[in-house]
Amino acid sequence: MKIKVNKFVSRLPEYVPGRTIEEIKKKYGLDTVYKMASNENLYGPHPEVIRKIAGDLKKINYYPDSNFVQLREKLSLKHGVPPDMIVAGNGTDQVIELICDAFLETGENAVIADPTFLIYEKYVIKSGGSVIKVPLFSDNLCQDIGGMLGAVNERTRLIFVTIPHNPSGTGITQDEFDYLAANLPERILLVVDEAYHEYVPPEEKIKTIDYITSKDNIITLRTFSKVYGLAGLRIGYGIANKEVIDVLDRVRLPFNVNSIAQKAAVIALENEDYVERIRADIEKEKQKFYGFLDEINVGYIRSHTNFILIKVGRDSKYTVEELLKKGFIVRPGENLGIPGYIRVTMATPGINKNFLDVFMGIHRKKLGGEQ
Ligand SMILES: Cc1ncc(COP(=O)(O)O)c(C=O)c1O
Repeated sequence: MKIKVNKFVSRLPEYVPGRTIEEIKKKYGLDTVYKMASNENLYGPHPEVIRKIAGDLKKINYYPDSNFVQLREKLSLKHGVPPDMIVAGNGTDQVIELICDAFLETGENAVIADPTFLIYEKYVIKSGGSVIKVPLFSDNLCQDIGGMLGAVNERTRLIFVTIPHNPSGTGITQDEFDYLAANLPERILLVVDEAYHEYVPPEEKIKTIDYITSKDNIITLRTFSKVYGLAGLRIGYGIANKEVIDVLDRVRLPFNVNSIAQKAAVIALENEDYVERIRADIEKEKQKFYGFLDEINVGYIRSHTNFILIKVGRDSKYTVEELLKKGFIVRPGENLGIPGYIRVTMATPGINKNFLDVFMGIHRKKLGGEQ
């Protein structure tokens, strides 16, 4: 191709997406395939959401509300912050993009964990910046908060901390967060990505939004893609000081969140009891996984999210392939920067049970040396 491509394109990290259900059905001639790879909510959204957005389909000839007024009001009530401290995006991904567009210039950098959610690096590079990567602690795969603060230099504009973390599922302690907030330079924006916040056990949740009232350089990100079960509609949001939100509002396109997504999010917020139900169910399922893995002596990382990292050793690609043949899509750790693990999204109880039966078969086969 003779067309000139922008320099940053060749520096973008490659995102290896999870395999699709249709692809695996076709490849292995299967009727049923379960996707336990992208941390979606396999219970689906609250039924009321589906019922009500169906009614709204007849209005899709109109542009959406460019200021998502209704959504802002609902979120304002939920979080106890004024509506002008909230911005929404086409998924949290887009809010991350807006942050990088608005606060990073060529030659500046962002501090991120390694590995972490790949999208941070992608948008930092797209904005002409670079990333300073701070490895997770090797024993427990937690973020090294002290190390991340220590990695800051005069060109650092952003720090991304993910609570709980993806791909490890680990949280950070209240003390660590306090330390981070207390030592955060005023000229740096701390981006706290809480995509899995609702899955954190209540006693371990950090009230990050409380810090925003006293600090104007923290933004908290949440999404409707995970526990609310709306990943396909693409809607997430950020909460920060009004001045930060004003800047993001100036950068974003007017109709960045479609009308069906806005409506679905509003209905989901009117049925918030669903969140606790899903959290409690997923917690039960995780406990079943831990018990099972303990029994067969397979390692794992305890998770604050709806996924678990299972330590399968050097042969994680083999395990992933064997699971695919039986209709279970999971993510190989190699694609996420944590070789030797597979990342498994908790599904519904019946699917999880089938998964564990199949996993057991693969494990036995491996122990028997048939691989
Ligand atoms: C840590 C983290 N942040 C953000 C997202 C993206 O969320 P959204 O679907 O709202 O763009 C994900 C999705 O996997 C995630 O794991």
